[in-house]
Parts: sequence; structure tokens; C-alpha cells
Amino acid sequence: MSIAQELDPISYSPFLDGSPQMRAIGTVIENIADTDATVLIRGESGVGKDLVARAIHAASSRRGGPFVRVNCAAIPSQLLESELFGHEKGAFTGAHRRKPGQFEYANKGTIFLDEIAELPLALQAKLLHVLQDFRFSRVGGHELLRVDLRVIAATNRNLEGALARGEFREDLYYRLNVVEIVVPPLRERREEIPKLVSRFLARFNAQYGRHKELMPETLARLTEYTWSGNVRELENVMRRLVVLSDGEQEVEAMVARGRTGHGSAPRLTVAEGLREVGRRGAREAERKALLEVLESVRWNRAEAARILKVCYKTLLTKIAECGLTPPLRR
Ligand SMILES: Nc1ncnc2c1ncn2[C@@H]1O[C@H](COP(=O)(O)OP(=O)(O)O)[C@@H](O)[C@H]1O
Ligand SMILES: [Mg+2]
Repeated sequence: MSIAQELDPISYSPFLDGSPQMRAIGTVIENIADTDATVLIRGESGVGKDLVARAIHAASSRRGGPFVRVNCAAIPSQLLESELFGHEKGAFTGAHRRKPGQFEYANKGTIFLDEIAELPLALQAKLLHVLQDFRFSRVGGHELLRVDLRVIAATNRNLEGALARGEFREDLYYRLNVVEIVVPPLRERREEIPKLVSRFLARFNAQYGRHKELMPETLARLTEYTWSGNVRELENVMRRLVVLSDGEQEVEAMVARGRTGHGSAPRLTVAEGLREVGRRGAREAERKALLEVLESVRWNRAEAARILKVCYKTLLTKIAECGLTPPLRR
């Protein structure tokens, strides 16, 4: 390891060493740190995409500059352009003075465009333009501003589906997707759970002045749980565990609900026999796989048939049986 690396304040490392998947992400981050490559971070909600974005910034030579996060889903679409690029005085009703946008604030640093799939199409066009030469003008202005920054985008949506439906520009997709980091769901990296649990336990004990300890059975339950809300859900559960006096019972109840509730397993009702439950489960699984693959290949049926290892005719029959229709002609 070189001296430069040793001195590198990569303070994010604790969360990147819990599993092989996260270590691999850590390696990618180190490899791209000193490039200006645009990064697209993907993964379910709550997996840690924000942390990864901050880690990229912290590892890069821009770490001394600003890290600016814009949640594209949280800002009304008619305000988003001004939020990103600023506006001149009088650009629209209510624009009483010139206002710089987040791209200006992020100069010399990193701009993190979270929930990028929610960006309206018109703004996607402008963003693509900006990404080509990092020049833009504020809304209602003519002056060309130039910024020097790195762009990181994130989404929990199936962007390929959005492409197929014409909701996301293909050219922007390729421009953003220079480096893609996929953060796996927590259920695929369960070995991190004990470490996360003890970290959250320590943090919330300190925060709420408690001395809560976990029974080994509770830890086992937490490690087995499905965590559809990922690390965010685990964090919230640990907070409740520390704060509530009957926290352990709550974990039991939660795990029990996870087993029979709206999880992936079909619920057994008295009226139907085991065989029917199996058939229904299989049908649902088939439909889901079919739709996923079709969306990922943008409804190229020949390609989908190859991926799903069925003949073309079978695929067409299955599509009809499941009542699936291509999005553009819907
Ligand atoms: N590996 C981790 N260690 C500690 N906390 C984590 C870790 N991953 C995620 N978190 C926490 O979980 C919550 C969700 O993470 P976040 O990065 O916001 O997820 P996402 O952006 O993918 O929805 C945050 O409070 C974050 O601090
Ligand atoms: Mg996030």
C-alpha cells in the first residue's frame, strides 16, 4: 500500500467490509475515486446507496469540495429545473431574485442526483446537455456558466423498464451509466447483520442512555429475517428494540408476521389444498420472471425466450396466459 493510500481519509470503510459484495464495491470505489467517471448506483430502497455515494466523494480528490444531494423525487417537477440549475430574477412568477442552483453549489465537488428515474423527460434532455460540456444557463438566463463536478446518480427503479416505456431517455441512461454499482439487498449479505446489529445497538444505547443487550435468540431471528426494507428497516427495528421495554417481543411478532404475512410465500387459506397453493405460487413466480426478463430486454421476445430457455412459441403462450402486454402499445 502506498503512503498516499495510507493517508487517504477513507473513513467510510467500516460499512464496506462486512461482506464480499460490499468489499467488491469498496474496490470499485477505490478504482474510480480519482477519475471523474459518472456513477450510477442501483439497489432497493434502504440498502445504503447514499452511503456509497458519499464514500465515492470521500475517496475522490474532490473530497475537500462540496457534496450536494438532490432528491429528484422530493421536489415538484415544475421547480426541479430551477433547483438544479438556478434561475434569474423575473424568470417566472415569484422569482424575485436570482437564485443559484445546486449544480453551482456543487462546483469543485460532487452532485448526487438521487431517485434519478423521477426526473421529468424535458429535464432529462437538459441534464444530458449539461453532462456533455458542463455548461448551462440558469432558468430565464443567457449567461453560460461552467462547472467542474462529478455526477453520481441513484435509483431503486428498474430503469430498463422505464426505458422501454419511454419514460427515461436512452442516451441519458448510457451517459450516466459509465460505472454502475449495484448494492445488493440485505437478505443477500446476511453476514453483515450481526455487525450492523451491534453497531446500531451501541449507537442507540448511547443516544437514548440505555444499556440494552440482545438475547442470542433475538440476534438469530434478526439474522434470518427477510428485511424487505433493508438496512433502513434494520436500523428502525434496532431503535425500537432499544427504546421499547418489550422490544424483544416486538421482534418475535415481526418475524412471525414476516413468515405468514405479505412476504413472498403464498398465504395458505383453508379453502384451498396444498396442490393449488403450489400451482398458484408457481404461476405467480412465472409471471414475475417473465415480466422482469421482458422488461430487461425491452420486449424483444426472441431474446427473452433464449434467456428463459423456452421456445419462442411457448413464450408467446405464456405471455398470453399471464395477460402481459408490451408497455408502449398499452
Ligand atoms: N452498512 C451500513 N452501516 C450502517 N448504516 C447503514 C449501512 N447501510 C445503510 N445504513 C443506514 O441505513 C439507512 C439507509 O441507507 P441509505 O444509504 O439512505 O439507503 P438508500 O439510499 O439505498 O435508500 C441510513 O440511515 C444509513 O445510514
Ligand atoms: Mg437514498
